Amino acid sequence: MNKPYDVLVVGELNVDLILNQVDKFPEIGKEVLADNMTLTMGSSSAIFASNLSTVGSRVAFIGRLGHDNFGDHILASLQSRGVDTTHILRSTAYNTGATIVLNFGEDRAMVTYPGAMKHLTLQDITPGVLQKARHLHLSSVFLQSGLQQDIVALFKGAKDAGLTTSLDPQWDPAERWDIDLPQLLPHVDVFMPNINELKAFTSKDDLTAALDAIKSFARNVVVKHGSDGAYLWNGRELLHQPAFLNKDVVDSIGAGDSFDSGFIHKFISGAGDQACLEFGALTGAINTTRPGGTGAFESLALVKTIAATSFNYSF
Ligand SMILES: Nc1ncnc2c1ncn2[C@@H]1O[C@H](COP(=O)(O)OP(=O)(O)OP(=O)(O)O)[C@@H](O)[C@H]1O
Ligand SMILES: [Mg+2]
Repeated sequence: MNKPYDVLVVGELNVDLILNQVDKFPEIGKEVLADNMTLTMGSSSAIFASNLSTVGSRVAFIGRLGHDNFGDHILASLQSRGVDTTHILRSTAYNTGATIVLNFGEDRAMVTYPGAMKHLTLQDITPGVLQKARHLHLSSVFLQSGLQQDIVALFKGAKDAGLTTSLDPQWDPAERWDIDLPQLLPHVDVFMPNINELKAFTSKDDLTAALDAIKSFARNVVVKHGSDGAYLWNGRELLHQPAFLNKDVVDSIGAGDSFDSGFIHKFISGAGDQACLEFGALTGAINTTRPGGTGAFESLALVKTIAATSFNYSF
């Protein structure tokens, strides 16, 4: 059957107010200055969806926004990158979420107001919508408390409906990591934490021990490791993909989401493990060449130009 969407992204939506070149960490009762500020569409899921659309997949989004200017800004941003927003819901009771980001070199401090994104529930993701897509991706489950307790049902439902699936859990701000991985991961074709998230989930100190703790019930596990690149456990062997070296990192906001978009773009086209890893590492590195998570992904032509000029890579 010919489905209208390659990937249905279920996720959180918020704006990022990014402050760069901040003098020093602020203290209560004092004021510090930033030399540069940008307002952009934030949220892991939206960055993933936008960049996945830019590199050529047909993407639809399900999430919740408020009825406010930030919500309008996000809708317009997603639409400008070709993401189908038909299934995005607007809440009258809650404002659109927002994250204030303070950038200090490659590190950052963030404060998030979740707002409407906390109120997306399993009932919002109807079987009819699932049927329209070939693949389901969920990100930032811990920011979506309305969905968190139903995550196994969501992924099982997607698999039963014939979709392939991926999950980038992102950090748990409460650090409870309260998800039943043995129940969930059999329904997740590609589990995509970063190394710190995987260690926290499994209470292990290193990659090998953390993978050993989930191997018996996981399918593919991609572990992102910043400028050390990424690993893939595919059920048989552990593959490593070095990062594409970027000596002039602007910021790394969304590098993990851009990695995910490159990896999943290849995964749903049936590419092999190493090709998925390599394209993920490329899109992750491209992300770091422009501000925010989507700055480098304005168009496929720009992505290709950055790939060629900054990383000597053509596709
Ligand atoms: N400074 C960098 N230079 C080149 N590539 C990078 C850099 N930082 C990240 N990447 C690429 O992007 C991938 C994902 O980045 P990272 O490990 O930071 O993910 P993450 O922690 O999930 O990020 P996020 O904070 O966006 O969720 C890395 O595996 C690497 O391939
Ligand atoms: Mg991440």
